[in-house]
Amino acid sequence: MIDFDKIWCEKYRPTKLDDLILDDKSLNVVKQFKDEIPNLLFVGSPGTGKTTLARIIVNDILKCNYLYINASDESGIDTIRHNITNFAQTKSFDGGIKVVILDEADGLTGQAQGALRNTMETFAKYCRFILTANYKHKIIPALQSRCQFLDFKPVINQAVKRCYNILQHEKVNIDDDQKKKFVQLIKRYFPDLRKTINELQKSVIDSILCIDSSGSDSELLSGCFEKVINKKSLELRRYLIENEDRFQGDYDTLLANFLDYLYEQKLDDLKEKQCFLQEKLDVLGVWLGFLKEKQDALKEELDFLKEKRFS
Ligand SMILES: Nc1ncnc2c1ncn2[C@@H]1O[C@H](COP(=O)(O)OP(=O)(O)O)[C@@H](O)[C@H]1O
Ligand SMILES: [Mg+2]
Repeated sequence: MIDFDKIWCEKYRPTKLDDLILDDKSLNVVKQFKDEIPNLLFVGSPGTGKTTLARIIVNDILKCNYLYINASDESGIDTIRHNITNFAQTKSFDGGIKVVILDEADGLTGQAQGALRNTMETFAKYCRFILTANYKHKIIPALQSRCQFLDFKPVINQAVKRCYNILQHEKVNIDDDQKKKFVQLIKRYFPDLRKTINELQKSVIDSILCIDSSGSDSELLSGCFEKVINKKSLELRRYLIENEDRFQGDYDTLLANFLDYLYEQKLDDLKEKQCFLQEKLDVLGVWLGFLKEKQDALKEELDFLKEKRFS
């Protein structure tokens, strides 16, 4: 059996609003909830605290009767509606509201979401819904308009603090070099805190933090370096695209690491320093071109999706 107490991600899942990392705007909205909530839609990328906040609301803020459904686990909309109807048709024990948490609701088809809308309407008097989704556009407008929307954007400084506290709580030793790598690791996976905490736990050996970011990373950086100094920008692009999974497509962090890498190269004379600065500028130029291309590609994809949605 899985021991959830040993998995940091579960062990340190916030149970109170104070422990959850949330931007000020969302925090102010949630702080107003006491005995009542509107229907809610939480949108954000994986590992940003959507499920956790839904649980905090039912267990700690409202302390109410609730039903948890993961829309991607269930066998279909009929089962979901049947379970919701069974749960929602009676008044709660204390007369307070009941809540249905429909996690990962964007896994449902548009048709299923339409059926859900009717169910929401039927039980609107005593029952509220909290929907979570990775993508807002995958939730039909009829459901969006019935929910108050919260956009999940954790704050990086708070993520660093929280992860550091977890390490301290676990009595993990961190030397200065690891402190730097620790911050880089958080930036690399941000905003996915689930992934970050899992990676941190994997990096602890005998209570010592041993993040290994050298290995393949420095090989990747020297690969870039070789192409940059020889001004092979097309090759550099191809190399980056082919190796995207090695840096999770995170160009910002890769660029930051690359500039660090350049900085750490031995520079003996003035000429070398001059070349170095020129390289930095070249790199930035190539990078900007590359990002622009990516942006254009994404824009095209977005237009295509929009067209598909309205056709
Ligand atoms: N905003 C956050 N504040 C603190 N911890 C978080 C936050 N988001 C995620 N976590 C950590 O990651 C784990 C997974 O979060 P979860 O709420 O399941 O993410 P989501 O539902 O958005 O995918 C939690 O158990 C917690 O340890
Ligand atoms: Mg979730």
